[in-house]
Amino acid sequence: MAMDLPLKTASSLNTVAKLNSNENPFGPSKKVREAITTAFDEACRYPSGVFRSLLERIAETEGVSTDHIVITGGSTEGLKAVGLTYGLNGGEIIAADPTFQAMMTYAENFGGQVHRVPVDAKMGHDLEAMEKRINNKTSLVFICNPNNPTGTLLDKDVLKNFCERTSERAMVFSDEAYYDFITEPDYPSMVTLVKEGMNVIVSKTFSKVYGLAGMRIGYLVARPDIAKRLQNNIMAMTNVLAIEGAKEALLDDEFYKFSILKNIEAKQAIYKTLDDLNLEYVKSHTNFVFFKTGRHIDEIMPAMKNENVLIGRPFPPFYEWARISTGTMDDMKLFDKGIKKVMRS
Ligand SMILES: Cc1ncc(COP(=O)(O)O)c(C=O)c1O
Repeated sequence: MAMDLPLKTASSLNTVAKLNSNENPFGPSKKVREAITTAFDEACRYPSGVFRSLLERIAETEGVSTDHIVITGGSTEGLKAVGLTYGLNGGEIIAADPTFQAMMTYAENFGGQVHRVPVDAKMGHDLEAMEKRINNKTSLVFICNPNNPTGTLLDKDVLKNFCERTSERAMVFSDEAYYDFITEPDYPSMVTLVKEGMNVIVSKTFSKVYGLAGMRIGYLVARPDIAKRLQNNIMAMTNVLAIEGAKEALLDDEFYKFSILKNIEAKQAIYKTLDDLNLEYVKSHTNFVFFKTGRHIDEIMPAMKNENVLIGRPFPPFYEWARISTGTMDDMKLFDKGIKKVMRS
């Protein structure tokens, strides 16, 4: 699929493949860049003037009313606000291990207790074991689906049933940062349960498929009474440029589809490289792949950096695994060359 991409700046034309943060190297789209540039005229103003229009656009996209939405500075701010809200006063959070830790580490800063439940043999959430950990002090159960760093996706019916049952005992959080990359048809967002009035909070981000990681904008979707409580614990919020960029991103269907196709293409290239090397990996529903090198990540990361490829980091207890994000096909070539040299040395 050909697409009129924006000219990249000199810094992104270097020869280092940055494949360690699950970003989208094709973003922001041309239309979004134009919207951001135009938004500079309003950059002397506080965001309140333009905030409402994004709120309305997100609400329309999600099929809820605006009082269900909390706009945040990246979804990380939403995760932290939830960690603070539900971790205070020794609140207990149950989460998979490994998973995206921002909420849990933040909750721990405020005295929250976190129960980390190891992923199952297929590297997915062990929902049965997680459910067994629920007790009367459990304030929240965190689900990252698809999961970072393992890239796994829960069966949709199993997930839905779990959320329905669990939300009667505790708040359920569904981190859907990678939701857009799911290729399984009709895979539901847990926003469907929010609409049914359940104790469910969903986070989404503009950092991944929309390619706006540097702009810091995301949002939470929750029942209005929950959303109001969370809104009170937001600290940074976002900014005028990000708001105007996000508004345009939601309309730019061409770029959205383009990003998904590019991700599939790059992921196939990663699989091919790993197959060539006979390395084990987890089939991914995201824009990254978790694979087993059989060597300690503290050795592999610097070795790959020497080959101008930045890859992701230690995810205990899987020290002999690494996470590689999708990138441009040039990035993928650098990865192919680099990992083959490192693994064969
Ligand atoms: C699962 C998951 N959730 C949330 C985030 C945070 O993204 P952001 O704060 O850029 O929205 C990430 C970032 O990598 C992630 O992997």
